[in-house]
Amino acid sequence: MSNPVRITIYNHKGGVGKTTLAVNIAFALSFLGKSVLLVDSDPQCNLTSYLLSDDVVDDLLNHSSDRDGRTIWSAVKPVIDGTGSVRLVDVTEIGDVALLPGDIRLSEFEEFLGDAWADGFKRRMGALRATSSISYLISSLGSQRDFDFVFYDTGPNIGPLNRVLLLDSDFFIVPVACDLFSTRALSTLGQTVKKWIMDAETIDAIAPDGAMVLNGRPEFLGYIPQRFKVYGQTMTREADSFHKTIKSRVHKDVSSVLREIDRKLAPPRSIDPVVGQVQDLASIVQTAQREGVPIWDCSASASSLKRTARKSFFQIAKYIVRAADDRGSP
Ligand SMILES: Nc1ncnc2c1ncn2[C@@H]1O[C@H](COP(=O)(O)OP(=O)(O)OP(=O)(O)O)[C@@H](O)[C@H]1O
Ligand SMILES: [Mg+2]
Repeated sequence: MSNPVRITIYNHKGGVGKTTLAVNIAFALSFLGKSVLLVDSDPQCNLTSYLLSDDVVDDLLNHSSDRDGRTIWSAVKPVIDGTGSVRLVDVTEIGDVALLPGDIRLSEFEEFLGDAWADGFKRRMGALRATSSISYLISSLGSQRDFDFVFYDTGPNIGPLNRVLLLDSDFFIVPVACDLFSTRALSTLGQTVKKWIMDAETIDAIAPDGAMVLNGRPEFLGYIPQRFKVYGQTMTREADSFHKTIKSRVHKDVSSVLREIDRKLAPPRSIDPVVGQVQDLASIVQTAQREGVPIWDCSASASSLKRTARKSFFQIAKYIVRAADDRGSP
């Protein structure tokens, strides 16, 4: 079986559209014939709530500590309990997309991962295994079924859970809102990911033979300006000005910072790594969330906005497919 391409949608800033992107890109990819696993790795469980009705979510959460629990917590619980390796849970099918549901108890795993990371520097085999447990879980799920892509949805923070997700990824994509705080946050993001990669290199270099370690080479695929205002068919002047700022700060604060470690980790200045763009889609986003469907399939009557949404997410999906194909070529 082929190894799925793992992608993290990441920005430690909250509310920039990570979850909305993850869901809609996944559906667009599945429409293009790709098999996708969505991993709700944010203890807020927003992605799960987007796709499943409240009673199904409640039922999943109420039973997640049972032997046949089906959330991401059910999978990692044996690692925390010290009773064994991750448990292979059954994924939940949402049409053609597979979901590994989230769980509020994942925050307990996050605390555990903080200590495990520190112990990784002390070459402790158990700690290294714990650090790699979500990675191992995804590989095991991928060996049961041929996924082309796996998406990790992340919570808005720079915590130990996001660190292992990023370091397990082939690519990461950064959604950015067109406002001052989002552009400023890019500097923290670039420095944080750089530190994580360098720490992972150190751990890898000193790890005992045969220890499980994370791949630790997430490539910055690019950014997605999110939720900007349009006037007619184009960005408002204010949004356009933010887009220009984002473009230059992405290079300065993310790409060039990562390229200091390895030039393969981010594109050079000559390439503007804009994976796509998603304008403000107003209330149809909430309608789609309520109905658990991609935005362009929701029941809202705003047909031109739905067409715009479809076009945006399909363009992003195609960009990702091209990047994944290029990665496979020599
Ligand atoms: N393109 C868009 N147009 C209009 N509203 C949007 C758009 N994208 C997302 N939203 C809305 O913005 C809010 C935040 O979106 P979302 O939950 O996807 O962000 P997030 O980055 O995942 O947040 P968090 O950091 O809390 O996980 C949601 O209420 C969503 O409905
Ligand atoms: Mg989210």
